[in-house]
Order: sequence, then structure tokens, then C-alpha cells
Amino acid sequence: MTLRSRFLNGFQFTPELPGDKSITHRAFILSGLAFGETRIQDANSGADCRATLAALEKLGVRVTHEDPRTLRLAGMSGGFVEPQEPLDLGNSGTGLRLLLGALAAQPFSVTLTGDDSLKRRPVERVLAPLRAMGAVATSNSDRPPVTLTGGPLRGARHTLDVPSAQVKSALLLAGLQAKGETWVGGVGGTRDHTERLLPLFGAHVGLGDNCVWIRGPVKLTGTSFRVPRDPSAGAFYLAAAAIRPGAHITLEGVSLNLTRIKVLDVLSSMGLMLDIQPSPVASTEPQGTIVGKGEGPPRPIEITSDDVPFLIDELPVLAVVSAFAEGRSTFRGAGELRVKESNRLEAVAEGLNAIGARVTLEADGWTIDGSGGLPLKGGKVRSHGDHRIAMALLVAGLNCRDGVEILDEPLIETSDPFFPQNLARLMGES
Ligand code: S3P
Repeated sequence: MTLRSRFLNGFQFTPELPGDKSITHRAFILSGLAFGETRIQDANSGADCRATLAALEKLGVRVTHEDPRTLRLAGMSGGFVEPQEPLDLGNSGTGLRLLLGALAAQPFSVTLTGDDSLKRRPVERVLAPLRAMGAVATSNSDRPPVTLTGGPLRGARHTLDVPSAQVKSALLLAGLQAKGETWVGGVGGTRDHTERLLPLFGAHVGLGDNCVWIRGPVKLTGTSFRVPRDPSAGAFYLAAAAIRPGAHITLEGVSLNLTRIKVLDVLSSMGLMLDIQPSPVASTEPQGTIVGKGEGPPRPIEITSDDVPFLIDELPVLAVVSAFAEGRSTFRGAGELRVKESNRLEAVAEGLNAIGARVTLEADGWTIDGSGGLPLKGGKVRSHGDHRIAMALLVAGLNCRDGVEILDEPLIETSDPFFPQNLARLMGES
């Protein structure tokens, strides 16, 4: 499918948003480990989460579809069955890393692999701490495929070099099956969905300043849960409104988890008018409606390393908004973007410069001289097979004289199966 966007004047739009991807991966894995059945509504149906679900099915979890919005997972009471073939997590770093944690205590050997992009992403950041707890694991020089031989684990203290929700969550998933306390420090700013979901399944998680801990072994009990909509998917539409004075975007039922919505503060500081209405529904995850209205040209921003964990998935689209800002924006401390689905530091600089923006690639970020609200030229760009790069550049195309066309296979379906249809609707083409 060729995806393109074109110059668009003011718009008023309510996109259909997918269920939150991070929460869905965790809900699937915890359900798989639990005693009894879990009912999950509005799970993310993109390829990444489907890959995690397919891996769980290979581990013995029975999945039934109650209706198009509702899944039931029959938990394996703490013990998965040995899979007969490697588990292929496709493009999903979250699925792979979380499953490594969940499988580290299981008494069998299993190989986990993925597509070409996943085979370029580091795994030692998870394997090294899992080895310290007693797991045996080998990787292909810090990359998948990984062969993991699980067994009895003992709790351990870990301090993360790079704040990562994936690594923290993998260690909590191993820790709940280990003997004694597993403590993880250096987690500041990382999304806290695992900590919020575990109590729903009956497990107590300790929360401290910049650290979390769990005392194992813990028996999880199946539950019922509705997944809020994904704020990282919604951020692309809010960014589009931030670039277009008069534009009006409404996001409904979206997660308002504070570890996920710093992008709202940033877009607001760039000039987007925001109205946030929390919904009264009691849930482990706060949620509500966000309305964003574009005003003048965006103001420039300064992103530092302290901001990065809170904005890790939104940095590409914030770079796009900065390309239209009145003045110079700086992004620093974002070296982690080099090891995402693509090298996002390079992919953003290449894509934005190809459509006429002024982006300087730095060692750990970008310096971006904005157009002062003026449209850029536009043109054909590459997404490097990375869903967030494709969506960010298509948002840029809404303010480009010649629009933007993605040359390679954009793989947007990874996280958001609704984006292509929403874009067509936004441009009045469906
Ligand atoms: C995620 C954590 C982040 C994020 C990814 C989803 C998660 O990765 O980029 O899209 O669900 O835990 P890191 O933990 O590597 O920062």
C-alpha cells in the first residue's frame, strides 16, 4: 500500500484510536501466567500485540474471541508448555523483551526471534539481569535470536543504565516467579503499566522514588479489564493540529496515564490549546477525552535527557512540529532513538531534510530550525520500515506544498491499524 498525505487547510476530526499497545502486551502476558480466565476488552489489534498473543498461544494459552472487541485468555496457572518452534515476535521489541522476563523461570529452552528490524535491536540489557537471577541465555552478539533456558530464579537488585519500561517490566515478570525480592532502580520516567496491572491480578508491587520491587513467588489470578486508547497513537493527530491554526482534534477514551502524556505539556508549550476531561470510570489506568486546537505557528522547544523517558515514542512527531516552529528547537539526551524499530535519529533527520526542513543530526538528538509556520516543499521519503517514522512524516505532509509520499513499506499496522483509514478520512478520501 502506498501511503501519502497532502496539504490540508483547517480540519475538525475525531480519529478512531487503537487500544494502548503497551498495556495490551502486558495484559496478554499476565493473563497467560494467571490462574483462571481473564477477559480483555479493546485490546490493541496491531501486528505487534498479535505477535505476542500468537507466542502465548504457542506456550499453551487458549484464546477465544467473545466478540470483535473482547478476548478471553485461559491462564496457564504459572506454568507455560514448552513451545515446539521458535517464538517469532515480528517487529515487536516490547513483546520480545517482556516475554524474556516471563519465560526466565519456566523449566524449558525456547528461542525468541523477530523480523530484520528486531534482529538489530539490543537484548543484553534484559538478558544480563536475568542471568544474575539464574536464567541461562545466549544472544547473537546482543541481538535476537535469543535462546533462553529458564529455571528456578532468585530475586536480585538491578539498577538500569538506561531508563526502560521494557527492561523494568521484564524484571518484574521474572521477579514475580523468583524466590525473594527483585528490586529495580533507575526507572524514573518510564511508563508504569506493569505496576498498575499487577495488583489487578492480585500481586503487590512496591513503588519507591525511582525504583520498584516485587517479592516472589506470586500467584496471579485472572481478572477482567478494558484497555484505554493509546495516547502515543493520538499524539500524531494532536501534532497535526499543533501545525495548523484553526485545526480541531478530539481524542476519546484515551489513556491519561501521567507517564504517557508529557507530550501534552510539550504541545501546549508549543501553542496547542488543550482541554482535558478525565472520565469518571474507575480503572487502574486514568482515561478521558482530549481536545486540541491549533493556534498560531508552533513555538520552539528544548528537550533534555530528563524529558526523554516520558516522550520516548513521541520524539519523532515532536521533531515534525518543530520543523514548522518559529525558531530553533533542540533535542538532546535521545541516543536511545538509535535502537528503536529503526535508527530514529537518522530516519527523522533524513526524512525531514528530504522535504525541505532544516534538521542537524547531533550525537544524541537534533537541532531543528523551524519554517515559522510556512509550508515545506514535501516529496518522497523513506520510513525505514518504522511505523512511527511513517506516521510522523505523513503528519508533516499535511503542511507541505507537494505533500509527502512514503516510498517503502510503512508497517503502520504494527501499532495502529486505524491510521491509514483515519488519514484517508481526514483528507476527505473515504
Ligand atoms: C515500551 C517502552 C518503550 C517504548 C516502547 C514501548 C513498553 O521502550 O519505546 O514503544 O511498552 O514498555 P523502552 O523501554 O525501550 O524505552
